Amino acid sequence: MSIIKHHAKIETNALLLVLGIFVTVIIGGLVEIVPLFTIKNTIEKVEGVRPYTPLELAGRNIYIREGCYNCHSQMVRPFRDELERYGHYSLAAESMYDHPFQWSSKRTGPDLARVGGKYSNEWHRRHLVNPRDVVPESIMPGYPHLMKKELTFNDAAAHMKTLELVGVPYSGIEGALENASADFEAQATPDADQEALLTRYPKAVVGDFDGQPDKITEMDALVAYLQVLGTMVDFTAFDPAAANAIR
Ligand code: HEC
Repeated sequence: MSIIKHHAKIETNALLLVLGIFVTVIIGGLVEIVPLFTIKNTIEKVEGVRPYTPLELAGRNIYIREGCYNCHSQMVRPFRDELERYGHYSLAAESMYDHPFQWSSKRTGPDLARVGGKYSNEWHRRHLVNPRDVVPESIMPGYPHLMKKELTFNDAAAHMKTLELVGVPYSGIEGALENASADFEAQATPDADQEALLTRYPKAVVGDFDGQPDKITEMDALVAYLQVLGTMVDFTAFDPAAANAIR
């Protein structure tokens, strides 16, 4: 009974109550935060995640400009229904080079974290020009202007250098900054020599994404970006226990 009596004292005195809340929150905070100090890294170690190619990067910029994130998330949560629909849950490592990340909080449309390789380039092109052409009941807006706007991305190296400032290791990839424009063109030109591009950016999808071989448009860049989403990590060889081991 005496505990209740003491508690009444706290409850009837605003200052004591505030103090009590403060102490409780501090304890809760410490319990949550302190264990994090003992691990070196909260991002698991996985093979395969690489910085975006210049073309993918241009596409990502367009994705952000067009506000695709208002309707699409890029994070598969570790729940059964999501795993069955989208595939392996997203790892922190998969978005470690995303600045800003595109996890988003709204799904008017499906999650796009694993959309890479799900459809052909042609499907994406037709879908982005007029979604109703391929998904009759779609409420997604069309983006036909992307087919017209030619893209040079001659400031690719500047974009990459800026990302380097926040931790994307472009200078660790030999020749990435010097050859940014060449890599940009090579990825959207199927008959170009892609060897250097693929050495720098393994698994980059090469193609004439917009079906217009004579020019590189914003559509090329956006589809190249969509096609790489979720494809970098080989999940058949992924071992969660090893990746999360305290280092
Ligand atoms: C107003 C909300 C809205 C916006 C904005 C929007 N989408 Fe969608 N998106 C949808 C809906 C709804 C669907 C599901 C129907 C369909 O496939 O069209 C969808 C489907 C998709 C799909 C197919 C996903 C799958 O797994 O089947 C892709 C890819 C896609 N959107 C890309 C984009 C891109 C890129 C942008 C920005 C240029 C964008 N969306 C903007 C609502 C939106």
